[in-house]
Amino acid sequence: MGKMTAIIAVLLSLPAAAQDSRSGRFLAERWCMACHIVEREPRSATADGVPTFPAIAAKPGTTAASLDSYLSTGHTRMPDFQLSRSERNALISYILSLR
Ligand code: HEC
Repeated sequence: MGKMTAIIAVLLSLPAAAQDSRSGRFLAERWCMACHIVEREPRSATADGVPTFPAIAAKPGTTAASLDSYLSTGHTRMPDFQLSRSERNALISYILSLR
């Protein structure tokens, strides 16, 4: 079994939610970290009035549904990423995992 096959086998054996939040973290570091602090203990604090992901997760009104609708619509201050359903789900489960 090649190294890549081994990694895929490990990923496939994780529960779906853990898999999602892992790929969500990966996407967040690629696409969201330019503006948002995306982790519990930020490596850098550059959020200029932009809510951090842990702060978003902690808001009482934040649910998977509220994040889904926010990420499915266009925004004024935040770019529209045109995320696919699975990318949105991964990001949502990552954000909610910061609770
Ligand atoms: C170019 C900067 C920028 C990038 C990149 C960016 N955001 Fe944002 N985001 C913002 C700003 C600014 C706000 C606050 C919007 C407002 O107050 O109108 C925001 C708000 C949000 C909110 C709503 C927060 C709340 O209070 O409910 C969510 C959820 C969110 N961003 C998720 C993401 C995700 C997921 C990504 C990566 C796919 C991302 N953002 C990438 C700038 C950005």
